[in-house]
Amino acid sequence: MIFRQLFDQVSSTYSYLLASRPGGEALIIDPVLEKVDRYLHLVKELDLTLVKAVDTHLHADHITGLGALRDHTHCITVMGEQTKADVISMRLADGDKLTIEGLALDVIYTPGHTDDSYSFILPDRVFTGDTLLIRGTGRTDFQNGDSRKQYESIFGRLLKLPDATLVYPAHDYKGDTVSTIGEERAYNPRLQVKSVEEYVELMNNLKLANPKMMDVAVPANMKVGLAQEEIARRGWALSAGKAIALLGQPDIALIDLRERSERERHGTIPGSLHVPYPTLQENISAGGMLNELAKSTSKRLLFYCAFGERSAMAVQAAQDAGLASARHIQGGIDAWNKANGPLER
Ligand SMILES: [Fe+2]
Repeated sequence: MIFRQLFDQVSSTYSYLLASRPGGEALIIDPVLEKVDRYLHLVKELDLTLVKAVDTHLHADHITGLGALRDHTHCITVMGEQTKADVISMRLADGDKLTIEGLALDVIYTPGHTDDSYSFILPDRVFTGDTLLIRGTGRTDFQNGDSRKQYESIFGRLLKLPDATLVYPAHDYKGDTVSTIGEERAYNPRLQVKSVEEYVELMNNLKLANPKMMDVAVPANMKVGLAQEEIARRGWALSAGKAIALLGQPDIALIDLRERSERERHGTIPGSLHVPYPTLQENISAGGMLNELAKSTSKRLLFYCAFGERSAMAVQAAQDAGLASARHIQGGIDAWNKANGPLER
């Protein structure tokens, strides 16, 4: 595995770049906007393709690099389903897998620091966000934080992992880089409590000042979505209502860009083809299946995904590949559901 721990000095944030092999797909956890150029450079040097940019939660102390990485690389953005970010490409829930080629991280919901906090687990390590820090825990006094829930996330979930599991947090202010579950259980001062009440009491009396960046970072991190308006302005978007009216017409080819797990959980539009977003480029290039479909038949390609972000990027890519009939469903399955469009499971 390729693994890089990257540091932002201003916010003391750790970001993590992971890939299973040189030349393969990569994902990044908790990227910082100001460091995006550094990440892009490193991804290139390591000969990787960035396919997912993931935030463990909505950050209050720095602006996320998710949107900028998506705009530069056409990777998808990923957060938990509870997040208040306006649009992200893919939302995860407890029990899901966060996958790239050769790697599958277990996704666990660990609320408490915020109500959208998640941790991601590999067999030998866990990325804990701000739920569990090295000799500390994330504050619980804003963004729907809840010290009772955090106690449950830490004691009920994270500390159940094997003692040797490496702990990689989203921040460290003292210069520590990594710990283990066993070490934190034994020596983390916040975890030396006898009951949830004692933990709540401890967290209620921290009296911390708000993060300096909070008033800037939180609103910015809530507006991370791709400007689907630009695709609409070019006439390449259909509302869910218009798309529903086209259902069953022989000249429409509906193309679902989501992952299998998303299709199973949320259902699919009847009669659609499954072309996962990472395989898009080979499919729309000359000789590719969608390229043939669009050019040798009169079918118009109608892309969709979860929230319209992958499909907006797909329309742009298809147009760039000369497939002028390509369109997408603005707002994705989320909008389709709100318009009462039929789904198959
Ligand atoms: Fe945080």
